[in-house]
Amino acid sequence: MSSYKIIDHEYDVIVLGAGGSGLRAAVGLSEAGLKTACISKVFPTRSHTSAAQGGISASLGNMGEDDWRWHMYDTVKGADWLGDQDSIEYLCKEAPAAVIELEKYGVPFSRTDDGKIYQRPFGGMTKNYGNGIVQRTCAAADRTGHAILHTLYGQALKHNTEFFIEYFALDLLMKDGECKGLIAWNLNDGTIHRFRAHSTIIATGGYGKAYYSATSAHTCTGDGNAMVLRAGLPLQDMEFVQFHPTGIYGHGTLISEGVRGEGGYLVNSKGERFMERYAPKAKDLASRDVVSRSMSIEINEGRGVGKEQDHVHLHLSHLDKSIIESRLPGITEAARLFANVDVTKEPIPVVPTVHYNMGGIPTNYKAEVLTGNDSETVTGLMAIGEAACVSVHGANRLGSNSLIDLVVFGRAAARRAAELVKPGTPHEDIGETETEKCLERFDKLRNSNGENSTAELRLSMQKTMQSKCAVFRTEKTLKEGVDDVRKAYDGMESISVKDRSLVFNTDLVETLEFDNLIRQAITTVDSAYNRQESRGAHAREDFPKRDDEKFMQHTIAWCNGKDSKIGYRPVTKTTLTNEVQYFPPQERVY
Ligand code: FUM
Repeated sequence: MSSYKIIDHEYDVIVLGAGGSGLRAAVGLSEAGLKTACISKVFPTRSHTSAAQGGISASLGNMGEDDWRWHMYDTVKGADWLGDQDSIEYLCKEAPAAVIELEKYGVPFSRTDDGKIYQRPFGGMTKNYGNGIVQRTCAAADRTGHAILHTLYGQALKHNTEFFIEYFALDLLMKDGECKGLIAWNLNDGTIHRFRAHSTIIATGGYGKAYYSATSAHTCTGDGNAMVLRAGLPLQDMEFVQFHPTGIYGHGTLISEGVRGEGGYLVNSKGERFMERYAPKAKDLASRDVVSRSMSIEINEGRGVGKEQDHVHLHLSHLDKSIIESRLPGITEAARLFANVDVTKEPIPVVPTVHYNMGGIPTNYKAEVLTGNDSETVTGLMAIGEAACVSVHGANRLGSNSLIDLVVFGRAAARRAAELVKPGTPHEDIGETETEKCLERFDKLRNSNGENSTAELRLSMQKTMQSKCAVFRTEKTLKEGVDDVRKAYDGMESISVKDRSLVFNTDLVETLEFDNLIRQAITTVDSAYNRQESRGAHAREDFPKRDDEKFMQHTIAWCNGKDSKIGYRPVTKTTLTNEVQYFPPQERVY
C-alpha cells in the first residue's frame, strides 16, 4: 500500500486539458447538466491554443461563394487520402454552425466592412474543387486561438464547470478494459487526487516537444497520449508530424500562414519566388507539406539564405501598412522580438519547424476512443483536439483546420457524453490496484537517484527526432532514429531527480513529461520506419510515391516501454450521408 494519501472526487464527466477542445467540451457538458470537472496542468488561458494565429476554417461564404463540400474535398485531398471521410464530412458540415456559436459566445472576430466575420485565404483552401483560392479562414486578427480560448474559459466558468488548475495527470484508471477516471498530482500543495467519472475526455494536445525545434509550447508533451499507451491502448498515424513552413529561424516561434494568406511570399538566396516552380497553381498557398518540402529542397540544393544558407526569407514589406497593422499585429511583434526584424522594411528569416501532430489517440467522429480492433470503442474514454486522431487531417493538416477540429469535436464529445451518461449515476468500487500501479511509477521516478539528468536525455531524444525523423526520411535515417531514441529511453533506468518534494517540483514534472514524450517518440519513429511510401507529411526519399494499395491504411502503434507493436486499420472511405465521397487521383496537382 503506497504512503500517498488519496483525495477522492466523483464527477459525471471529467475533461483532461483546458485548451480549445477541452473547454468547448466542458461548456457543452455543463450546459447539458452533467457534473463536470476540467483538470489542467496550466492555467486554462495559458493553454497552447492561445498560440494559434491565422484562423479557423468554415465555409461561411462571407467573402465570396463557398460550400462545405468544397471544404470537405480540400480536407480529404490535403490529408493525402488518409483522412476518414465520415469524420471529415462531419467536420466540414458542422463547421459553420460551430463558428457562429463561437461568435455568439463572444469571440471578437475581425469584421468586414458590412459587419460579417472576416475570412482570409489559407493554404490548400480552394473553391469549386481546386479551381481557385477561397477565403474560408475566419480570423480575429492573427490572435484567433487566443480570442477563442479566453471566450471559452469565460463560458465554462459561466456554466459552472469545476476547474482543477495546475494538476498534473499521472495515469488513467482502467478496469476490465473500461476507463473509470484518472489520478492527478496537485502541483500547488503536493496532494494526490483520484477523479472518478463515467466518461473521461482526453484533451491534452500534441507532443511537439519530442522535437528540438517546434512552434509548440514547452507544455506540449502529449501527456494524455502517453497515458493511453500505458493503459495498453494504441496511438494512430504517429509518423505524420507536420512541419509549419514558417517558424522563425533559430527560435521556432510561429509566423502565421495568414501572412501568405494576406499576400506575403517566400524567396530564396537568388531572390526567386521558388514556390512558383513547385506549385504553379497554389504557389505560396500550397498545403504545408508541399511548402515545407520545397523550402527544404531549396536549402539542401544551396539556395538558402544567411551565412549557413539554411533558411529562406518571408517577404511582407510590400503589403499595405494598414493591413499589417490590423490583420497581422501579433507576427509583427514576434518578428521584432525574436528576429529583430521590422516587417514593414525587411523579410523574416524562416525555416520549416515542427508544428502539429496529425497522429494521436484513435477515435470515431463522436470522439469515442477506439481499441484498434475495427470500430470497437473503449467504454468511458474519449479524446479530442490534437491529442486525438479522429482522423480528419490524415497525413497532412490544412492550416486553420485545427481550431475548427477543436470546437466541432469538443462539441461532439459533449453531445455523446450527454447521451451516454445519466447525471448523478453512482460510481462502483474499483479497488486500489490501478491506483497503486500508478503511484509506484510516480514514486520510482520521484526517488530516482541515477546519473542521467532529465535535460540531457530529453535533448538527446529531441536531437534524434529532429535529424532522423525530419521533413525527408530514409530507411537509414529512420533505423538510426529507431535505435537512438531507445538509447534515450534506456537512459531512464539511471535517471536522476534531485528535488524530492511534492510542491511545484518542476524537476519531477519534467521527468514525468520526458517519460511521456519518449514513448511517443518511439511510436513515431517506429511507425515512420514501417511506412514504406510517401504520403502527406511523411516523405520517404527511398519510397517517393504514394502506395494506396498497401498503405491507404492508418498505422496503429502500441508501445509498452521501449517495445512497440505496429498494425494497420483501413481508412474510412464512406461518408455519413453518402452525399459526397472522394476518390484519390494518381497524383496530387497543386
Ligand atoms: O499559420 C497559422 O496561423 C497556423 C494555423 C494552424 O496551424 O491552423
